[in-house]
Amino acid sequence: MSYNVLVSDPLAEEGIEILKNFCNVDEKTGLSEDELISIIGNYDALIVRSGTEVTARVIEAAAKMKYIGRAGAGVDNIDTDAATRKGIIVANAPEGNTLAATEHTMAMMLSLARRIPSANASLKKGEWKRSKFMGVEMNEKTLGVVGFGRIGREVAQRAQSFNMRVVAYDPFITPERGAQFGVEMMSVEDLFKVADVITVHTPLIKETKHLVNAASIATMKDGVRIINCARGGIIDEKALADAVLSGKVAGAALDVFEEEPPTESPLLGLDNVVVTPHLGASTVEAQKNVAISIAHQCIDVLKGGAAKYV
Ligand code: NAD
Ligand code: MLT
Repeated sequence: MSYNVLVSDPLAEEGIEILKNFCNVDEKTGLSEDELISIIGNYDALIVRSGTEVTARVIEAAAKMKYIGRAGAGVDNIDTDAATRKGIIVANAPEGNTLAATEHTMAMMLSLARRIPSANASLKKGEWKRSKFMGVEMNEKTLGVVGFGRIGREVAQRAQSFNMRVVAYDPFITPERGAQFGVEMMSVEDLFKVADVITVHTPLIKETKHLVNAASIATMKDGVRIINCARGGIIDEKALADAVLSGKVAGAALDVFEEEPPTESPLLGLDNVVVTPHLGASTVEAQKNVAISIAHQCIDVLKGGAAKYV
């Protein structure tokens, strides 16, 4: 039997090659929802990154779909309830980009602390303003990690090598488990009070939506720095912008936004805010890892087996 697979966001060639050894592969990116709906009925499997919104309408039209693969961690662009109702297996590739997202978080933290993006832009404009770009050291500062999963743990380990004290909040991680990483687990309220730098690494779910908001920012240290390389929406962008403008928050670094691309985010115009366009997983290595993982799982499911990460 021959299977048809639609790849609707850019996928590394290594994954495409694996798929092509087993099935027909169409690569069609940038489709609107209606365009996707008009062709989806021809396909046994769909592979996406974060660009394609796999809505209930798309899933409804997917008459013979058996598998939807997300080449990355977060499945928030897929209506998983609608897929489950239709008996479609949704799998992701949560491990392949962990280190890429971790290293991006560290890069964001240091960029923020040493004001590298602004200094870079200033020098390239022909200025030489050494006193304008005074930074702060991470040495002996307290890093608060919200969400102590794959990325949170890797970030903690790297921060410790900078001689930071690391504290963390995660309702599913015991103090004993945290201690194995040399990290003190605490309530999110306490973490907000003690951290000099806060970095969030949770999924975007009901419990984490606007976890960082005007009220929680008010409980933080004056001059706190805040990083989000996880999901837009964990931070209330308007509240964060107000707090940066008032000086309560010394700076923020964001890779992800409530709306992507962000058109109206009040954060984009602020000097003390470092932004990147959802680049956390954008390394050659990570894209190869997730493409291979999602392609193998696709073939396993089409052969009648199970996916590894459901
Ligand atoms: P993970 O599942 O390994 O870790 C998430 C952790 O969050 C878990 O330990 C979980 O217990 C914890 N958590 C759940 N609910 C919580 C709550 N209410 N409060 C605090 N913690 C809570 O996931 P991961 O691979 O570490 O990914 C973390 C985030 O980073 C996800 O949102 C993922 O989509 C995102 N991500 C972004 C990029 C990027 O390109 N910027 C790349 C990879 C992953
Ligand atoms: C993820 O959830 O894995 C990330 O958002 C990375 C991505 O696919 O761009």
